[in-house]
Amino acid sequence: VLPFIPKDRGRRLTHAALALLAAVGCYFTFTLTPGFRPVHSLTIGLGYTSLILIVVTLVIGPLQLLRRKRNPVNINLRRDTGIWAGVTGGLHVVFGFQVHMNGDIVQYFFERTPHHGLRPLPLIDLFGFSNYTGAVATIALILLLFLSNDLSLKWLRGPLWKWLQRLNYALIVLSLAHTVGYQAVVEREEVMTLIVLGLTAATVLAQMAGVAISMRRRAA
Ligand code: HEM
Repeated sequence: VLPFIPKDRGRRLTHAALALLAAVGCYFTFTLTPGFRPVHSLTIGLGYTSLILIVVTLVIGPLQLLRRKRNPVNINLRRDTGIWAGVTGGLHVVFGFQVHMNGDIVQYFFERTPHHGLRPLPLIDLFGFSNYTGAVATIALILLLFLSNDLSLKWLRGPLWKWLQRLNYALIVLSLAHTVGYQAVVEREEVMTLIVLGLTAATVLAQMAGVAISMRRRAA
């Protein structure tokens, strides 16, 4: 019924596996955060699941290049992974707005002052910085979600569609900035910062390998 649920069996299985992965991610977070409100545990579980899936979308292309001569414009596995990064990221935002400031969304971005009304939080305020980067990342995530179907691929044609997909690079940078910002705000355990560093290194290495392979093949 949903437009992104594909007809073929293989891709349905991929979607089922990705949904299961998201559920397992949230379950693990619940076990690791006893005493947290459910909405808080869900925010953390869905946030990290989305981040990992975004990284996977950026690693699939270079891996494909290693196996084949050329990288096709659209790889179904990458697209399906991106769809679940969007679904889990979107839910993370919905729950995330209820975790701090008693759910007053305005205060995620503005300070309420007694005489001057609302004042935007400065960029040097870690809480404000994390929310600004998170909000722009969300816009990129939603745009990418809208691009992830056959209709927009047909409508926009290969090269333009492929060009718009580059939003994924902005998305990963903003998501990482948001994550590290929040990790500092909530003083998250060091091991989580190490995991995020690992994810960053994997993304950079995979992308560098992809560029190197493409350049070598073009020169040949
Ligand atoms: C306006 C948009 C967003 C809002 C309001 C938001 C809100 C939040 C909140 C409240 C937390 C902290 C949870 C805590 O207190 O422990 C958080 C953490 C996190 N967010 Fe977001 N988020 C947004 C966008 C995103 C996006 C697009 C991603 C994509 C990957 C993302 C990934 C993460 C991750 C991985 C964490 C975990 C950091 C930690 O250890 O606390 N967020 N977010």
